[in-house]
Amino acid sequence: MFPKNFVWGVASSAYQIEGREENDGAGECIWDEFCREGRVYEGQNAFVSCDHMHRYREDFALMRLLGIRHYRFSISWSRLIPEGTGAVNEKGIALYRDMIREMKKNGITPYITMYHWELPQALQKQGGWLNEASIQWFAEYARVVAENFSDLCEYFITFNEPQCFIGLGNLTGVHAPGLKMSYKDTFQMVHNMLRAHGTAVKVLRANAKQEIKIGYAPTCGVAYPVSEKPEDIEAARKVYFGFNNPMDNWTWNVSWFSDPVLFGKYPEEGLKKFADYLPEMTPEDMELISQPLDFIGQNIYNGYAVRAGESGEVEYVEREPGAARTAVQWPVTPKCLYWGVKFLYERYKTPIYITENGMSCHDMVSADGRVHDRNRIDFLDAYLGELSKACEEGVDVRGYFLWTFLDNFEWEKGYNERFGLVHVDFTTQKRIVKDSAYWYQNVIETNGGCLSMNQLKGEIIFLNPVFTHNIWGGTRLREDFHYPVEGDDIGECWGIAAHPNGDCTVKGGTFDGRRLSELWKEEPQLFGNVDMDRFPLLIKIIDAKADLSIQVHPNDAYAKVNENGSLGKTECWYILDCDEDAALVIGHNAKTKEELADMIHQGRWSEFIREIPVKKGDFLQIDPGTVHAIKGGILILETQQNSDITYRVYDYDRLSNGKPRELHVEKSIDVITVPAKSVEDSVIDTMNVPKDELYTLYECEFYKVFQLEVEKKAVFEQKYPFMLMSVLEGDGLLNGQLVKKGDHLILPAGMGSVEVQGKLKAICSAI
Ligand code: BGC
Repeated sequence: MFPKNFVWGVASSAYQIEGREENDGAGECIWDEFCREGRVYEGQNAFVSCDHMHRYREDFALMRLLGIRHYRFSISWSRLIPEGTGAVNEKGIALYRDMIREMKKNGITPYITMYHWELPQALQKQGGWLNEASIQWFAEYARVVAENFSDLCEYFITFNEPQCFIGLGNLTGVHAPGLKMSYKDTFQMVHNMLRAHGTAVKVLRANAKQEIKIGYAPTCGVAYPVSEKPEDIEAARKVYFGFNNPMDNWTWNVSWFSDPVLFGKYPEEGLKKFADYLPEMTPEDMELISQPLDFIGQNIYNGYAVRAGESGEVEYVEREPGAARTAVQWPVTPKCLYWGVKFLYERYKTPIYITENGMSCHDMVSADGRVHDRNRIDFLDAYLGELSKACEEGVDVRGYFLWTFLDNFEWEKGYNERFGLVHVDFTTQKRIVKDSAYWYQNVIETNGGCLSMNQLKGEIIFLNPVFTHNIWGGTRLREDFHYPVEGDDIGECWGIAAHPNGDCTVKGGTFDGRRLSELWKEEPQLFGNVDMDRFPLLIKIIDAKADLSIQVHPNDAYAKVNENGSLGKTECWYILDCDEDAALVIGHNAKTKEELADMIHQGRWSEFIREIPVKKGDFLQIDPGTVHAIKGGILILETQQNSDITYRVYDYDRLSNGKPRELHVEKSIDVITVPAKSVEDSVIDTMNVPKDELYTLYECEFYKVFQLEVEKKAVFEQKYPFMLMSVLEGDGLLNGQLVKKGDHLILPAGMGSVEVQGKLKAICSAI
């Protein structure tokens, strides 16, 4: 869960949304020049972009309507001070003041970022961040910001992602100003930027009109451990704060940009590695850079897994083929949010805000006029789940700003990437709130309570059956059902069982390989948290090639006393197949207990045994105390209490391994019900059971049994603590997954609506 008062917000930047107007008085920034040079996708520019400068009233109304109460946005330096230093543009000040007032009217708390990559072009002409004067330029800008906005705003962030505007802007040249400078120059620029940061913190504080809070918002991909093993965690920590990137990408690191700010020194590993390129760094510089901060911001979008190799060296783990990526090709790695904040907090011990996180999707307006961006919801849901785990473990995360509210100008990629919660048509400026925005509203309202990690998971649990070999068993379980089991005496397939004599394992998915009995104990939410000491049911397919012995079962009370606390056994059979003239043993012909004992003691079996004819599809309930026996040639699906207690009354005088099998004559006489239930009451004919619905065949105190025969499509609610299903014929799609003859599965609690299409027959049960 997230702490109370957790800040849920959205983030944006001025250049990406505002747009311009002929007489707005703003100066140009490096991105205007970059666009003009045609270096943006399809020659696009941000002259109009989202036209937010004219539409912020509606945009903030949308935010309010969506329950968004915190907004991180940036101020354009050249809109405020057109030449970067000197004369201030009053129109710019008025615009931002009005914007902030409008936010507040809508109940939105502003968080100002001073620098989101828009250096005034006039300053770039003087060398930009390479010029040490940039420290003073930025200080002057900070003073204008403090003087004009600190009465309205309490939260300030100096720089956004210096790794990018120095690395991408000045080392690789992908971003404005599009330069490829020497390593030495880029180190100088970082040192200047860090000093500008420290100076701005001082200037903001000195000129603020109220007590303000100041932070910084760097970024970097997160190295996270592939497992929870301490050595893998250590490897990830080392990489996250280390310097493994090649020189031509050297700015992608955390500690060069954050250690000086928070510790007042550059990291040793970097000082060694970069020794040849470093500028002069004085103790006074370091003191200036490390002005106390109220929080650190970190923009986190993705990460990469690492582990400790055999001899302790760091290894990068390759991503699985086909692993998920966003539209902009960034890997989807939710764990980065957990490990990112964990490692940062461990190292810097300063409250953290995630100042950006989000995803670009291939969004489009659907025929219904809405934008159904399910991918974004899934992405955010997984990432926020990880963030909440970190919060639960005590990491001091104060807030989360989703990138971003409006689809916008995505830097060199122009309008080709959509990161917004709100779709923008860049021709008409029409806004359409995407599904993810409504979803985020719910996240905010429930403080994360609605995230999937806090919900029951509707994952279908498939099981690996367990098999038994019996003297009366056959080969149909292998031949008809294709179960991988050898032998010609396969009597039983325990399809869903959590019994000590046969405990199924989970096949695939989240719980792969776990035993059903363990799952019952360790993941009770899957089973609706029912208060029972063991999994209550057992589902078998029985292939009787020869007759089974004549048997009877005790009830719970008798088994508890006489069978070591075991459950008794109530069961029922569904006849899957049999010969045309098949018969079964159900009940007996004794009228009194004395007659019963005599018939048994004297072996008057033909008088005692009551056989009844059965056919395919018949359903028989076998209460405890009912004498019963399956005859050879019959294939049944049995639903029963989770017990393996059977009293054998008579075994047709057969030998197994040269000896007769044990009989339980006295216990049988104890428990047999006299007289037996009538034949009519014992069999239910399922011939005319309706198709394409979940039809209840039988209910008793231990179970409900349903038949599901799908011809086309059946839809039902899984409203029981859990539901068991054994597919006996055909195949179909169950909520998007293939289910086929021989599959045994559990539909867990919280599964909700179940849709099955195809052609299949299944027997289901619940408690
Ligand atoms: C930047 C944003 C950008 C986002 C998506 C972040 O690095 O701060 O301005 O739009 O990533 O690329």
